Amino acid sequence: MEPVKRICCIGAGYVGGPTCSVIAQMCPEITVTVVDVDEERIQAWNSEQLPIFEPGLQEVVEAQRGVNLFFSTDIDKAVREADIIFISVNTPTKTFGLGKGRAADLKYIEACARRIAQVATGYKIVVEKSTVPVRAAESIQRIFSANTKSSLSFQVLSNPEFLAEGTAISDLKNPDRVLIGGDETPEGRRAIETLSSIYMRWVPKTRIITTNTWSSELSKLAANAFLAQRISSINSISALCEVTGADVEEVAHAIGTDQRIGNRFLKASVAGFGGSCFQKDVLNLVYLCEALNLPEVARYWQQVIEINEYQRRRFAARIVSCLFNTVTDKKIALLGFAFKKDTGDTRESSSIYISKYLMDEGARLHIYDPKVKKEQIMQDLSRSTTSAEEPEPGLSLVSIASDPYEACDNAHAIVICTEWDIFKELDYERIYQAMLKPAFIFDGRRILDSLHGRLQQLGFQVETIGKRISQRIPFTASTIAQLDLQAPPLKKMKI
Ligand code: UDX
Ligand code: UDX
Repeated sequence: MEPVKRICCIGAGYVGGPTCSVIAQMCPEITVTVVDVDEERIQAWNSEQLPIFEPGLQEVVEAQRGVNLFFSTDIDKAVREADIIFISVNTPTKTFGLGKGRAADLKYIEACARRIAQVATGYKIVVEKSTVPVRAAESIQRIFSANTKSSLSFQVLSNPEFLAEGTAISDLKNPDRVLIGGDETPEGRRAIETLSSIYMRWVPKTRIITTNTWSSELSKLAANAFLAQRISSINSISALCEVTGADVEEVAHAIGTDQRIGNRFLKASVAGFGGSCFQKDVLNLVYLCEALNLPEVARYWQQVIEINEYQRRRFAARIVSCLFNTVTDKKIALLGFAFKKDTGDTRESSSIYISKYLMDEGARLHIYDPKVKKEQIMQDLSRSTTSAEEPEPGLSLVSIASDPYEACDNAHAIVICTEWDIFKELDYERIYQAMLKPAFIFDGRRILDSLHGRLQQLGFQVETIGKRISQRIPFTASTIAQLDLQAPPLKKMKI
């Protein structure tokens, strides 16, 4: 096996950037070049201000950049020189045509494959890092085969990434497993061995799982679907808790101590599952099942998405209902816009959905997030609802606050959407004094559990997910029905 000297990664996003930075740190003798069509993004990777926020990333990049880690827009050169090419471009849900709203759009993957076939020579291992529908590697392979020349030979591998944002660097340095799928041929096995040898610099061999290509591709979809399903399961129980007097945190603890169930990924929240992956991948799985004539399986996974939408919808309905059935012209402070803490990523963030619901009801939103930029929030909230008769909700209703106190000043209610640690440490007495009364807190993430008693003493009306706290305005399933918040406004827009 020839030693790998150069790795190239197409796609300098949340996956490609951190993954390659860690590979560069762990393999000092390998030159790693991350390329992207987006010049601005590459400039940012080469600057002090990285394009993504991820704890620990800045240190790794600063240590390796210019040594054996490079960010560039010269895709062809990097592809030509590389022994291994990672494809890490985005695979968004299709917004038009066949499979619209469910199927993954593979146009960027295909464009990469065509480009590699066009410019590369010699032997290349092409690695699918992006999450793709099962059998995408086969499509890449066919594009290569149809366009290849005698000077190029290649192997296509599937090596899905399991990192979670916010913990990407530790996930990459200490993964539960690395999964590599390839052809069940001697050449395929050799390529798997070559890629394994990179990871074996820092990952124990027992954690490197090798499979055939299709198992690897499906395992990634299945892993995300199982995780999403757990969140929908606990969120469905949270709805039940609110009407029975049970507390979802206690239930989660009680069931999570059963080792067969386990205690992770049992946090109920307003968020449902946000982020770039879960919704897209479950939809993709649903589409795959339908296309393969497995309608019962498709319906099973579709329900996971529906509970996710229901969770956000009913939380928004609760806010309106508690605020005396109207939020029109009321100031509401929305704390947190990222889809989870420790990231600046807003893709599929519940904050977007909650904001849109409240904007549709005429609320004045004052939003604060420690990491998300104003332009990003405005962009997320300004995306057209596509329908001509449904004009874009007025962005004039939205203000971005530079600190949480400013957001809460004179507000009727605080809505916590992201579980940033700093929200646990705010001076709630000061906040209460500056708010209109009755002052409401909607703790959408259960981060203030230990403070609920004190907050109530201060005078706050506290509402949270999966537990009935405030006796003043009981919330029952029937109150949702009274509200005209049937379909999520974004559903029409996104899909
Ligand atoms: C990743 C995975 O690749 C995706 O499959 C997974 O489901 C979500 O995570 P991510 O890194 O989060 O995507 O995406 P993003 O941050 O959007 O980065 C993708 C990058 O690829 C962008 O910077 C984009 O400019 C670049 N790109 C896209 C190219 O360089 N070439 C293209 O043809 C298309
Ligand atoms: C996820 C997978 O964890 C990762 O393996 C895959 O590679 C990409 O997708 P990510 O989306 O970055 O990672 O974050 P994750 O921590 O999984 O959270 C996803 C969403 O679920 C967030 O909105 C989070 O708030 C929510 N969540 C998570 C819950 O609501 N409850 C939980 O118990 C856990």
